[in-house]
Amino acid sequence: MAIEDKIKLLLEKREEAKLGGGQKRIDSQHKKGKFTARERIEMVLDEGSFEEFDMFVSHRCVDFGLEKEQYLTDGVITGYGTIDGRLVYIFSQDFTVFGGSLSEMYAKKICKVMDQAMKVGAPVIGINDSGGARIQEGVQSLAGYAEIFERNILASGVIPQISAIFGPCAGGAVYSPALTDFIIMSKENSYMFVTGPKVVKTVTGEIVTDAELGGAMVHGSKSGVAQFVAEDEHEGISLIRKLLSYMPQNNLEDPPMAPCDDPIDRLEDTLNYIIPDNPNKPYDIKDVIHTIVDYGEFMEVARHFAPNIVTGYARMNGMSVGIVANQPNYLAGVLDINASRKAARFVRYCDAFNIPILTLVDVPGFLPGTAQEYGGIIIHGAKLLFAYGEATVPKVTVILRKAYGGAYDVMSSKHLRGDINYAWPSAEIAVMGPKGAIEVLNSKKIAEIEDPAEREEFVKKGEDDYKAKFANPYNAARYGFIDDVIEPRNTRFRVIRALQALSTKKDSNPAKKHSNLPL
Ligand code: HXC
Repeated sequence: MAIEDKIKLLLEKREEAKLGGGQKRIDSQHKKGKFTARERIEMVLDEGSFEEFDMFVSHRCVDFGLEKEQYLTDGVITGYGTIDGRLVYIFSQDFTVFGGSLSEMYAKKICKVMDQAMKVGAPVIGINDSGGARIQEGVQSLAGYAEIFERNILASGVIPQISAIFGPCAGGAVYSPALTDFIIMSKENSYMFVTGPKVVKTVTGEIVTDAELGGAMVHGSKSGVAQFVAEDEHEGISLIRKLLSYMPQNNLEDPPMAPCDDPIDRLEDTLNYIIPDNPNKPYDIKDVIHTIVDYGEFMEVARHFAPNIVTGYARMNGMSVGIVANQPNYLAGVLDINASRKAARFVRYCDAFNIPILTLVDVPGFLPGTAQEYGGIIIHGAKLLFAYGEATVPKVTVILRKAYGGAYDVMSSKHLRGDINYAWPSAEIAVMGPKGAIEVLNSKKIAEIEDPAEREEFVKKGEDDYKAKFANPYNAARYGFIDDVIEPRNTRFRVIRALQALSTKKDSNPAKKHSNLPL
């Protein structure tokens, strides 16, 4: 065969591979409002940067007549490219080929990009749109899943792993995304569940739709499985790109610095007045965050889940920073099971990838009640405690108002190796709030006072005395637990200075196989 013919054959094969399961199925994908696997890759990566692997792979199954049905690529598009000029590896499941279902060869393709990403230390992005295990392949397919799971596990904490769900993701297939660092789901067309509506109906009698069982909002707000809910695939893709801009390429690198013209000494007078006079009145902690970070830009993580704690990424003088902040606007910013789980996961991710943590504290304590105790608030609260205590990245803390009880300890206190701990003059650092404290300390006395007015006066005086002693930052500052009391309007400047001072921080944990995180 002449070289021209050989090249022609190559080009023909490429064209065939690019058609996946054929034009009819591509049209059907578009009709559902979905992009194809290739279109998604083009949208995620920098233009023209995609280098594809394994275009000519096809399956090896000879059962159920599959030997007669072969498609080049075998249902997943894999390779590497760049995002903002930085290398990433990617796989994108192609629903037009056997519903994107996973075969032995398909799994090998995914494992190949994961292995190479680990060797060179670059993030992996997985775009999911699949009917799960390829039914005709049986155990080969199950083995393929587990090969991917093992790689997800070994890559965890070494390279960032991001999963986007833009279609079905069901059965055991859910566990690969679950093992990655972030899950982004599009509101349209995506769902994740271990067992689908039909099985649910048979086993429990419940009647639910795909979306009710495992749609984007369900996982974004109820289960906490998805950290991002995108309106559509376009938004999902821009979230992937943005998220990676805060991340280092791997655990041995620092996150990239961004140029910053936002003055570091920008004074924000509004912060001096943001805390309401009434200690029970809420305010929006996000107003504080937006005010102190570069250009007011904050990428919130897990926005819809446990809104009583806010987590997300921002930059301060160009440095990537992970922010954890109690939200007085929701449940008074109390720590409960979900808030503890959410923040613990976030803190551990930041720590694994060298992203400094800024903690903004206004927390009245842990949420009381049987629902919380029966649900294991002890073990879940311990997760957050553990995450902060184990983290060796720079930790800067600012107590804005309440820091009561165990929650004071948990929220990156000095005692958990908090590096620089500031308080605003409005900070109240105590074992509990004034009312509760006086009732506990004087319960007998209060009960003995018969006249209600006299009783009220007694309690009020007790509260005033308690507040004078503890409802300020100076008692904690006296012991060095607070490094300085800062004027709220100076917060941006002081935090940036602290982060700069800590940028060469080195700390470590005792050598061990691994810790025993309270799971
Ligand atoms: C082989 C599959 C397939 C699968 C879909 N297809 N799922 N082929 N194995 N798992 C094929 C269909 O035969 C069809 O082929 C094409 O993909 C598109 O599927 P449709 O059903 O026409 O599409 P749609 O109506 O959009 O429905 C999508 C779907 C449905 C909801 C995903 O196909 C479905 O329920 N599939 C089976 C899901 C499932 O039970 N998977 C196994 C789960 S167990 P043609 O030729 O008509 O285009 C599992 C275990 C993993 O995953 C364990 C890991 C540890």
